[in-house]
Amino acid sequence: MSVDFEALAVEAESAVSTASDFAQLDAVRVRFLGKKGTITTLAETIRSLPTEERPLFGQRLNALRQAVTAAIENRKAFLEAETDAAAFAALDVSLPGNIPNVGTLHPLTQILDRAVCICRRLGFALATGPCVETEFHCFDALNTPADHPARNEQDTFYFHNGRLLRTHTSSVQVRVMEKNNPPLRIIAPGPAFRRDEIDATHSAQFHQLEGLYVNRKVSVADLKGTLDFFFRELLGTGAELRFRPHFFPFTEPSFEIDVRASGLGDRERWLEMGGCGMVDPAVFDAINKSRSDQAFDPEEWSGFAFGIGLDRLAMVLFGIPDIRFLAANDLRMLRQFAV
Ligand code: DAH
Repeated sequence: MSVDFEALAVEAESAVSTASDFAQLDAVRVRFLGKKGTITTLAETIRSLPTEERPLFGQRLNALRQAVTAAIENRKAFLEAETDAAAFAALDVSLPGNIPNVGTLHPLTQILDRAVCICRRLGFALATGPCVETEFHCFDALNTPADHPARNEQDTFYFHNGRLLRTHTSSVQVRVMEKNNPPLRIIAPGPAFRRDEIDATHSAQFHQLEGLYVNRKVSVADLKGTLDFFFRELLGTGAELRFRPHFFPFTEPSFEIDVRASGLGDRERWLEMGGCGMVDPAVFDAINKSRSDQAFDPEEWSGFAFGIGLDRLAMVLFGIPDIRFLAANDLRMLRQFAV
């Protein structure tokens, strides 16, 4: 049998090199190397050849198979490179990339994080309490009589079951003392709610940072030293504090805290930042009664407490003119304070 191997090689070569995609190339492979392909069929005829012709026929057929296989592999590599090149051609590596949207911290969160860090360094542990409170935790245990204006429905959000939205974070003081023995040192940041007329400086929801320190022989000097350190860390060593005598039912004596610092807009203006004072023994008595023990014996234990308004602080520090901006979720405002 005479087979024109050269002609077959040329034919295969031309079929491979004109295949312009992977499907066409595979069709060429099937045509020559497939089960019923030319080369496979020829291999089957070898048995019918005279013995002396078989080795040469076999050699040439093998050479043809190898040449075709190699040509197909080469063409495949070429087509792959071509596909990649086309993909890259559509890609402009000089274009700016897609900047990942990582989000930023809300100005209040930023202030809160800094405040908590400072208090931690002073050994204060973080405490939390519920926003929906009982009158006992929000008022009674804090020595706030039934006729106090804060207990008025005009000032406070009440639920039908007698609970209320806490009007201050001081309720967490009560929760902590009910469950823990002195000495203790906690801060409790979080939201508080009042039925205020809403305007640029009043919101129905605002945020406070509560602090409570109970130990033996705690003095007003400890309170002043702690708050002095806190505000100097937060606002710079140039910050000045003024304690103005005031009244809170749960502290005696009580003070309002005024601060002035160059970071707070007008350097000369005193800004009211919150209240503080020495824990009133009546509060310890109420806690003892609630716990049915004498853990907070006022003869042995004393303490100081403070409550700082965080919204006001964020507003003056960041130059935000309206408290409502803090809750409006307007990204144009929030992005300005991205860190
Ligand atoms: N709870 C008070 C308020 O919301 C602030 C305050 C004053 C908290 C004196 C205290 C404190 O812990 O000792 O106006």
